[in-house]
Amino acid sequence: MTRLSSPATARNREPILAVLQRVLPPQGAVLEIASGAGEHAVHVARAMPGLTWRPSDPDPDSRASIAEWIAHESLANVMPPLAIDASTDDWGPDAETGGPFDAIVSINMVHISPWASAIGLFAGAARLLKRDGVLFLYGPFMIGGAHTAPSNEAFDASLKSRNPAWGLRDLADIERLALANGLALRERVEMPANNQSLIFART
Ligand SMILES: C[S@@+](CC[C@H](N)C(=O)[O-])C[C@H]1O[C@@H](n2cnc3c(N)ncnc32)[C@H](O)[C@@H]1O
Repeated sequence: MTRLSSPATARNREPILAVLQRVLPPQGAVLEIASGAGEHAVHVARAMPGLTWRPSDPDPDSRASIAEWIAHESLANVMPPLAIDASTDDWGPDAETGGPFDAIVSINMVHISPWASAIGLFAGAARLLKRDGVLFLYGPFMIGGAHTAPSNEAFDASLKSRNPAWGLRDLADIERLALANGLALRERVEMPANNQSLIFART
């Protein structure tokens, strides 16, 4: 079976959905970067039927899982997954011409990929978001150069041991990147298990 699921998603999908229901428009087009197994895509799309959700992931196994979740849930408002590598400056014709989007959503990517992915994510948001669109990020972040919990510090160390280019990002670095791309942090929401939701809008 290629339809993957994770215990972490079972825990965090409801709190994430609650924020998305508040910050996304009820109707519109959403591009998700780094959809992974696709569980968030189908969960949000089922709860928000006015959205057209476009998932993506550079990993073929993840895209197979996303496609299976879409078929399993029989959801008409989730499009087939795209092969987008956020670190590149061309996300392919479907994303580049399918936009502009009302929102771009990226859950648990910027710490589990090189910094180039964050750079590309914000550049893509600058290119592809509508004027009043939002960029939503979820994950653990450092604040003022410090971890917000010992468990985050341990997680950071384990990520770096897997790949030295991975690791928790500092909110100040993310905000600098946002400003360089004409975006600003509009809201930060403390989430369970020392995670955060970051909502960016155009300056
Ligand atoms: C920890 S998983 C998160 C998946 C999903 N968003 C979730 O929260 O369950 C990280 C995902 O980031 C994707 N990823 C890594 N580097 C990426 C990049 N440069 N551009 C887009 N996605 C990337 C991986 O393929 C993987 O599916």
